[in-house]
Amino acid sequence: KVVAVIMVGGPLKVWTRFRPLSLNIPKPLFPLAGQPMVNHPISACKKIPNLAQVYLIGFYEEREFALFVSSISNELRVPVRYLKEDKPHGSAGGLYNFRDRIMEDNPSHIFLLNCDVCCSFPLPEMLEAHKSYGGIGTILVIKVSPESANQFGELVADPVTNELLHYTEKPETFVSDRINCGAYVFTPDIFTAIQGFSIFNNLLLPPYLIFESICIGRSLPTDFVRLDQDILSPLAGKKKLYVYETRDFWEQIKTPGMSLKCSGLYLAQFRFTAPHLLANGDGTKKATVSGDIGPNVSISANARIGAGVRLVDCIILDDVEIKENGVVIHAIVGWKSSIGRWSRVQASGDHNAKLGVTILGESVTVEDEVVVTNSIVLPNKTLNVSVQEEIIL
Ligand code: GDD
Repeated sequence: KVVAVIMVGGPLKVWTRFRPLSLNIPKPLFPLAGQPMVNHPISACKKIPNLAQVYLIGFYEEREFALFVSSISNELRVPVRYLKEDKPHGSAGGLYNFRDRIMEDNPSHIFLLNCDVCCSFPLPEMLEAHKSYGGIGTILVIKVSPESANQFGELVADPVTNELLHYTEKPETFVSDRINCGAYVFTPDIFTAIQGFSIFNNLLLPPYLIFESICIGRSLPTDFVRLDQDILSPLAGKKKLYVYETRDFWEQIKTPGMSLKCSGLYLAQFRFTAPHLLANGDGTKKATVSGDIGPNVSISANARIGAGVRLVDCIILDDVEIKENGVVIHAIVGWKSSIGRWSRVQASGDHNAKLGVTILGESVTVEDEVVVTNSIVLPNKTLNVSVQEEIIL
């Protein structure tokens, strides 16, 4: 059997990079191509042979995921459970914390996926490659531009055997243009590796702390383990870890701008994998599109779009109203917002730039004939004059 674990993280800082959208909804549930972000890796897991369970591990409140988990389990007919950490344990510590639960099905392999990456998740291919290498883990990797590589874990692998030879997390000086995509398949030996790291680290603690912990039966304090720095780096070059390189698309989703780009990537993928989900897909469309819409437009429930509206590269969230002749280009329009007649909500469309995508938080009102350009607007604001390159708090 195979089990998949998706790390969803939690609301660590109120002021995250995903603001203002993370003020309303946990980032993993933000819709990309009309589906919660975490739906995309979960759907990909469906293709894994002998999949027994999908676990989401995070430190968001249980109730925030309860509805989602039950509906996705029904929809995909795979049991999906949310496991809540009492506090952040790090990407490897979180996995280790629930090892007994994960091992209940006695899996031969465990997939571990970051929820904030967008890719085609070639999971069955990774599993096949992993079995042929015979290590304890295989990492999905991709070649990126040398300038962008330092935002990620950079690695060097043997071009013939695919063994991971060297791994450095977000290095200051250039190591390699091959990077860690945040998707892995492991054998259960990964738990032994994490345990080994924790024991070693605990031995570095002052003896009185170890003694005290043992006396009162409390777990030792160093239960925070990062997968990349603490586990992958030291295991590189020991014939334990291997890589599987994807030539498909891959992006990391840390900002609202990137979520818009990734929404477009998933819509493009749906053309081939699930055209029935698209309004202009294959004739089984659920929506009637009669206007100037696209490319890359997602419109959520109960949106009201007036006559003469132009929509390009945008996400329109639930209960939004766009009045006649409004224009939305390179933007995300938050829940219950309203855009007036002949108004424009627009940006340059550089998804990596801080203000390259205009974002309206929840319940923002843009009055008639107002132009909002390259700006971020926090919830509950009313704009009656045009703004450019501003963050409106
Ligand atoms: N449950 C839980 N608990 N999840 C966590 C925790 C934790 O304590 N800490 C991080 N995560 C989740 C995040 O939500 C994310 O999905 C994933 O684990 C990795 O997050 P980080 O550890 O913050 O790393 P990162 O996203 O900056 O970089 C990692 O991913 C990149 C690919 O997107 C690294 O592994 C990089 O090497 C890699 O390139």
